[in-house]
Amino acid sequence: MLAHALGATLLGLDAHPVRVEVDASRGVPSFELVGLAEVSVRESRVRVKSALAHVGVDLSEYRLVVNLAPADLRKSGSGFDVAIAVATLACLGVIPSEPIDGVLFLGELSLSGDIHSVRGALPKVLGARQRGITRAVVPRRNGTEAALVSGVDVRVVSSLGELVASIRGEHKLAQATVPERPLPAHYDDDLIEVRGQSAARRALEIAAAGGHNLLMIGPPGSGKTMLARRLPGIMPPLTQEEALEVTAIHSIAGLLSKSPADVRARPFRSPHHTLSEVGMVGGGEGLRPGEVSLAHHGALFLDELAEFRRPALEALRQPLEDGTVSISRAHGKVTFPARPLVVAATNPCACGYLGDGSDRCGCTRDRIQKYRARLSGPLLDRLDVHVVLPPVRVGELQADVRGESSAAVAVRVAEARAIQRSRFEARETSAPTNGALAMRDLKHIAALCDRSSRLLATAVERLALSARAYGKVLRVARTLADLEGQTAVAAHHVAEAIGARVLDRRPTTLHAA
Ligand SMILES: Nc1ncnc2c1ncn2[C@@H]1O[C@H](COP(=O)(O)OP(=O)(O)OP(=O)(O)O)[C@@H](O)[C@H]1O
Ligand SMILES: [Mg+2]
Repeated sequence: MLAHALGATLLGLDAHPVRVEVDASRGVPSFELVGLAEVSVRESRVRVKSALAHVGVDLSEYRLVVNLAPADLRKSGSGFDVAIAVATLACLGVIPSEPIDGVLFLGELSLSGDIHSVRGALPKVLGARQRGITRAVVPRRNGTEAALVSGVDVRVVSSLGELVASIRGEHKLAQATVPERPLPAHYDDDLIEVRGQSAARRALEIAAAGGHNLLMIGPPGSGKTMLARRLPGIMPPLTQEEALEVTAIHSIAGLLSKSPADVRARPFRSPHHTLSEVGMVGGGEGLRPGEVSLAHHGALFLDELAEFRRPALEALRQPLEDGTVSISRAHGKVTFPARPLVVAATNPCACGYLGDGSDRCGCTRDRIQKYRARLSGPLLDRLDVHVVLPPVRVGELQADVRGESSAAVAVRVAEARAIQRSRFEARETSAPTNGALAMRDLKHIAALCDRSSRLLATAVERLALSARAYGKVLRVARTLADLEGQTAVAAHHVAEAIGARVLDRRPTTLHAA
């Protein structure tokens, strides 16, 4: 007899339904699994066999063949266990096959028949809905994320025994529900706690307003990490669509199981500098998204930029241009969204104290240049705004003046973003933020008056700015005008934007910035 059940596999963020077909006949016992299954799927046989024994089904007299269709689609992960078990039970006549028709089954089995959570439950249920599937059974721990998909009746289950009882009509599975959450998202860190650092605060605001990648240069303990952490809190709240996308990526990475709710806050990712290329852009076993995708719609903080491995930084180039990352595989390639705001931090020199006003820095010119050479390169060129942080003065720390709050800054950021969106809607541009404006759009969106034009020409010559840096100056100047609600880009916007190209100056004059 033949029976089938529905499972799903992922290619990047896209889910593809998989038809699990089981054929059983009496004979020499065997359990064959075909259909381009990776090792992780093939291991399913051991778990399914043992879990079935726990619901009283002995496979030792059967010859089983499990086919995962379509055969040309690579399947990975342990999420097929439940679909395989259910199809097998139907095939053996232990459960009726009619109730499992058209239902998506997700879940990994333990040897004793418990059903454990799987990665990517949200995108899998989402993908099923797109194909007209309206019922799903998911592990209890995946219930919350799966319930975010409206239009699908999602039920949660804890064990194979419970599932069997429900299919037989002896038990009703609970419906998955999304818990009430406070809205909007809450961020623990607030700019109010940051003393001084007015230039860096301004740079952070510009970065958030225009979607500009930022580099902070400062001595140890000047507040670089502290400021970077406060970036998501001044960005506009995630739209529902963005939140769903971020949650789906985090679901695939298996990060939701720790806090089984959807992602409301903009992500803040701060990978260690020993991060590998795969860790940065994704890939490897199970095709997990990398840090650049986990930070999608949020901030990717590269602390100690000079210490990062070269290949990991090089790999960031394509995603920073395209907003997506492609990972090549033996069977085609998969794509993940990757549009984070990059914030990098570095000390000004190897000892960290260059230009801090004291004579602590003992770095020779040669050493400074070597350190800077580690910073330069393709990534640096993609950081639109550079800002130098002076050491925090004790007076600033002791004074009773608090900084402006994140909420106040967020209002200005939101206004500037609204202006950019209105340009976008008027179809003048296809970019959602100034940071992503195409060069050809810059000509009219950031058109310059004669004075600004001359100013920029002089700067290009004196600082030997690259064509890319030229474009960055224009984009940042546009954001500065938007922050002021000005239609035209003025000379003082251009001047400030040029000032934000600190690293285009000679290394030892850094402190003069
Ligand atoms: N501007 C500031 N206002 C208030 N507190 C600050 C400021 N800068 C630093 N601090 C205090 O110093 C601590 C360390 O700051 P932070 O980690 O941000 O420094 P950093 O610039 O990242 O240093 P490093 O180069 O060593 O990474 C903060 O947790 C905070 O308590
Ligand atoms: Mg730090």
